Amino acid sequence: MKRSRVNEILREGAEFIRSFGYVLPPFADWTPDDMKHRSGAIGGIVDARLGWDITDYGAGDFARRGLFLFTARNGAVEDLKQGRGMLYAEKIMISRRDQVAPMHKHAVKAEDIINRGGGILCIELFASAPDGEIDRTAPVTVPTDGIRRHVDAGGILRLAPGESVTLLPGVWHAFWGEEQDVLIGEVSTVNDDLTDNIFADPIARFSQIEEDEAPHRLLVSDYPTWL
Ligand SMILES: [Fe+2]
Repeated sequence: MKRSRVNEILREGAEFIRSFGYVLPPFADWTPDDMKHRSGAIGGIVDARLGWDITDYGAGDFARRGLFLFTARNGAVEDLKQGRGMLYAEKIMISRRDQVAPMHKHAVKAEDIINRGGGILCIELFASAPDGEIDRTAPVTVPTDGIRRHVDAGGILRLAPGESVTLLPGVWHAFWGEEQDVLIGEVSTVNDDLTDNIFADPIARFSQIEEDEAPHRLLVSDYPTWL
């Protein structure tokens, strides 16, 4: 993706988030220079990979296959291993109408995906077969706001604003907005996007950025090279 397009998506996404009255933490507004000047004091942001994350999954067609994310908090893998401490993470995301976050599962992370407003959030679901691959025949049962719901293999769960689903490790899922854009919350166990996204197709988690203008904000994936 061109940096100019990333900047445009970022501005539009921030405005969409604001339109629901959701207020982002202070570091959301920091410029790349702000972050560089604070680099000695922001290890808690950089190391936990908090902040902006815009991806087209390397496919170059963001409107059809992509996701807009902001990680607001994220715990520590070491705490997760010990079973106590900061075991949790939170993101706010946007799925635009018919913009698919492609089929994937997590080996470690359990996540609640929450429709925070906008359109209907569609989530396509499959169970894992014993070998971990997609089970194309077994039905899937997932908790949704305290109530267990069942879908056939490849069935689509439709969540209205306010509704949520709990996806445990191993549940394959893809999601998109239906007819309208959707603001999505994610509350999860510790998040590691470098290692814990297993995609059904061989695709990348992060975009390659072509630098055609200065970044408006740094993406999480920029931190290793820009800071
Ligand atoms: Fe996921």
